[in-house]
Amino acid sequence: MDTKEIMDLDIKYVMQTYGRQPLVLVKGEGTVVWDAEGKSYIDCVAGIAVNNVGHSNPKIVEAICKQAKNLIHTSNLYYTEEQVTLAKLLADVSPHQKSFFCNSGAEANEGAIKLARKHTGKGEIIAMENSFHGRTITTITATGQKKYQKGFEPLTPGFKHVPYCDVEAVSDTINNQTAAVLVEPIQGEGGVIMPSDDYLKYLKDVCHDKDVLLIFDEVQTGFGRTGEMFASQSFGVTPDITTVAKAIAGGFPMGAVLANEVGETFQPGDHATTFGGSPLACAAAKASINFILEENLLKKSKENGSYFLNKLNIIKNNNKIVKDVRGIGLMIGMELNIECGKLVDEMCERGIIINYAAGNVLRFVPPLVINKKQIDIVTNTLEDVMRKYS
Ligand SMILES: Cc1ncc(COP(=O)(O)O)c(C=O)c1O
Repeated sequence: MDTKEIMDLDIKYVMQTYGRQPLVLVKGEGTVVWDAEGKSYIDCVAGIAVNNVGHSNPKIVEAICKQAKNLIHTSNLYYTEEQVTLAKLLADVSPHQKSFFCNSGAEANEGAIKLARKHTGKGEIIAMENSFHGRTITTITATGQKKYQKGFEPLTPGFKHVPYCDVEAVSDTINNQTAAVLVEPIQGEGGVIMPSDDYLKYLKDVCHDKDVLLIFDEVQTGFGRTGEMFASQSFGVTPDITTVAKAIAGGFPMGAVLANEVGETFQPGDHATTFGGSPLACAAAKASINFILEENLLKKSKENGSYFLNKLNIIKNNNKIVKDVRGIGLMIGMELNIECGKLVDEMCERGIIINYAAGNVLRFVPPLVINKKQIDIVTNTLEDVMRKYS
């Protein structure tokens, strides 16, 4: 089928919840994807910070195929070696000992909120303005952006929002009903907003002093995106609970709630999912995490991230429409004085896919296997496309 036929079928048979690019993707390899007409693109989206180990990574493909031939699904009524060995691997690479497996980022945040409420016996969660935590009713409630909530009320009770990077506001809002503070270490959907110096450390201190749990939503920042396995390691702050999803299984759907002793609170019957932690998802996740470790993707994320950032800063210095360039590792935002839509379309025509957040922030979250030559092509093309706007 060609692009037009596929787009027509989408309109007819798929609920129109997405504003998609007019692009049908049929194949991917590393940092490159191909459309239905055979045109190739350098991918700076990576399925929204998911394909960290590259598209159709042979190690992930091999792990999925091997596992699929053996056992795809069991439910959580039974043990599997794949699940316990993945949990052990996560304990080795994260600051947390225990995992609960689910299927998406929103589900991971739901699980973390339940865990925090059960553990503390308190109901209130403090989240940040401009945050994003998912699309279920409770996670749109946690999300500090009205546009995601409008039309879906009533929302879940028990949530308060304070400005991001304002420790005093958190401290002032905590009361004797506060269970937890929920924060993205870097706000992703909000426009790649970096934490101010020591914000996360102060946040941890306040939570510790006031006996409130600290939850990091690392759905977007996890698995090498920031140059360490987790952003908590990049910023040197260990939360009580971490939620992950997106890149955990190299593109296979999976999420997890990670915690230390807080995780002991959950008892049989407290929380569950039919598909969570299936042997297939766990096999993909193990292959993906091992690939990140074996191929030094954390180092590559750091090195190629600062190379990318420098190149974007050079563009900024020569172009009036660029307001700011920021980021860490391969999670980079370029804030413009204009809306990004047209520019993103033009980049797509020129063979580069990027997406944007908050209307005016180009977001670069490519596979961590991107190389300097590809970064040069992206930045040279961007500079060229931007010329007409400056
Ligand atoms: C920080 C953060 N949390 C949660 C989510 C929701 O994840 P999912 O779309 O897998 O439910 C996202 C998705 O973009 C995210 O960026």
